[in-house]
Amino acid sequence: MSKKITIAIDGYSSTGKSTVAKQLAAELGYVYVDTGAMYRAVTLYLMRKMLVSDTHFDEEAILRHLPFINISFVFNEEVGYGEVHLNNENVEKEIRLMEVSQQVSKVAAVPDVRKMLVKIQQEIGKNKAVVMDGRDIGTVVFPDADLKLFMTASTEKRAERRYDELKGRGDEVKYEDVLANVKERDYLDTTREDSPLVKAEDAIEIDNSDMNLEEQFEKVLKLAKDKIEE
Ligand code: DC
Repeated sequence: MSKKITIAIDGYSSTGKSTVAKQLAAELGYVYVDTGAMYRAVTLYLMRKMLVSDTHFDEEAILRHLPFINISFVFNEEVGYGEVHLNNENVEKEIRLMEVSQQVSKVAAVPDVRKMLVKIQQEIGKNKAVVMDGRDIGTVVFPDADLKLFMTASTEKRAERRYDELKGRGDEVKYEDVLANVKERDYLDTTREDSPLVKAEDAIEIDNSDMNLEEQFEKVLKLAKDKIEE
């Protein structure tokens, strides 16, 4: 039997991390974990409780609510990966709405939220054979990951991709708003005090601005196979 490894994929928002992570996990028969979905699900819970909005952010109340938030993944055979559940409700679709994207970076900056989710992530990945994507996987969650990738692409390219994705789903969005959201999240994700988005020293950087999905997948699969056979 071949060696099982841990693969950490970090990078800016809308760099296609989750697409390549899903493809890789399916190809290798590994578990895929979308950690952004976990931060989004916590954000959705807090928005529903009116604790987080454009004008409101009650950190004390947030901390009081954390024990009542249960985040889990339930494998969906149709799509081939685990979908995120918030207190046993499948919220995979709702967490992708722009309204949630607009609030999530603030929630992801709260240290107790991070502590809670990192613990779950480490538990899921403790037996290796996992592909996890996020912002701090190679630096905080699995600093000893066997393979660390850091995905980048130009801001405009990322906004275009996100815009197409949202439009494709029928969401009414303006390109300017999507671009502004991408920029704002970059800023918040890289400047927050707790676990900011940084490239781990031993991560391999992949700029996919001019790569198509097949090219990207081929490159990443080769890196993973080389590691497994090492
Ligand atoms: O990958 P995404 O766009 O779904 O992530 C949503 C937000 O969650 C993103 O703005 C930053 C935050 N996040 C994080 O802080 N740490 C992670 N490991 C994953 C996501």
